[in-house]
Amino acid sequence: MAERTFIAIKPDGVKRNLIGKIVTRFEEKGYKIIGLKLLLPTLEMAQKHYAEHEGKPFYPRLINYITSGPIVAMVVEGVNVIEEARKMMGKTKPEEAEVGTIRFDYALCQEYNIIHGSDSVASAEREIAIYFKEEEICANWKTMTEMIMNV
Ligand code: RTP
Ligand code: MG
Repeated sequence: MAERTFIAIKPDGVKRNLIGKIVTRFEEKGYKIIGLKLLLPTLEMAQKHYAEHEGKPFYPRLINYITSGPIVAMVVEGVNVIEEARKMMGKTKPEEAEVGTIRFDYALCQEYNIIHGSDSVASAEREIAIYFKEEEICANWKTMTEMIMNV
């Protein structure tokens, strides 16, 4: 069963001109991108997104960071995509991330770590609803393989 996850290229990723490189990784892996837009997160969006971290010492800086410039918000669909996208991203601290992951390859520190990905089915549903209206998600199209196979 295909899952959906919410991926965001955070403001540092956009400011460092990494949009294309990061979107390419998800395309090359073979996932289906069914939502994609550039937006400046409002304070309300950022607070909802990171509600689980409210009260932690890094929370005010996290909210400042996420609202400091546009993000690229994506809904990505695929089998086991929630867990695998987290693997593609690498651990929160880039120095602990595996070589070849997005965070190892591009991020400079834990605070500015380039990319977000949902960590569970419940988080994915909650986060997609913060950033996307239902009509902005384009799920009803066939990949080339599905077209060719006529499935
Ligand atoms: P994310 O939610 O953004 O995908 O990141 P994550 O699951 O890998 O990490 P999480 O623990 O949820 O932390 C959310 C984001 O907060 C910033 N952070 N800063 N200074 C710090 O100690 C600290 N800890 C976390 C990072 O931007 C992290 O991705
Ligand atoms: Mg998280």
